[in-house]
Amino acid sequence: MELTEAVARRRMVRNTTGEPVDPAVVRRILDQARRAPSAGFSQGQRFVVVTEEATRRRIAELADEPAYVAKGFDPWLSTAPVHVVPCADERAYRSRYAEPDKTGGPTRRAAPEASPSDWPVPYWHVDAGAALMLLLLAVVDEGLAAGFAGVHGLAGLRELLGIPAGVHPLGVVTIGHPAPDRRSRSLDRGWRDLDEVVSWGRWSGP
Ligand SMILES: Cc1cc2nc3c(=O)[nH]c(=O)nc-3n(C[C@H](O)[C@H](O)[C@H](O)COP(=O)(O)O)c2cc1C
Repeated sequence: MELTEAVARRRMVRNTTGEPVDPAVVRRILDQARRAPSAGFSQGQRFVVVTEEATRRRIAELADEPAYVAKGFDPWLSTAPVHVVPCADERAYRSRYAEPDKTGGPTRRAAPEASPSDWPVPYWHVDAGAALMLLLLAVVDEGLAAGFAGVHGLAGLRELLGIPAGVHPLGVVTIGHPAPDRRSRSLDRGWRDLDEVVSWGRWSGP
């Protein structure tokens, strides 16, 4: 599949048939996602894959699935056969940026002991987002469907999956075989025009 087609076809799908996904396919998808760029090649992107039903149900609760169902959506999270929790391992960046080729230069302020606000841009979040996008596109490339849901109960998610301090879970990506789903009302807003999101040469927005 060409990139343009994969980008056009990608959308958050909030329902799956529940049919299992071949573990080899899940592995291929994650193998693509791990090839995302990373600052200093820190490769701080991490993924927790969950297929066990009871754990998926618990993640669905932590993501407040009942609230979705109350709004007329399908029980999307609990029924998806695969959950992937993408994480940003801040520790990988702090240790990478303490190495000799990364200290004393323009990134000096990003020293390991610096507080997160001392990092001009917290690269671990940038890289996790890049990996998330690759993951979503790889799912499309495999003819499957993915959806991303924020998890408000992040502390519970950490505890459930044993995610240590310094590693930041982003939310949950569901992967499965696509089923008809209810469209998000957010999409009624439509795409912003290209010239609203791009400034040519100099900032032209409000
Ligand atoms: C960071 C992020 C958080 C999101 N959180 C949720 C969420 O909690 N629940 C949900 O149903 N969709 C969530 N979405 C999906 C967006 O609503 C969706 O991407 C957007 O409406 C555009 O639709 P599309 O991805 O199908 O093109 C999230 C997307 C992103 C990128």
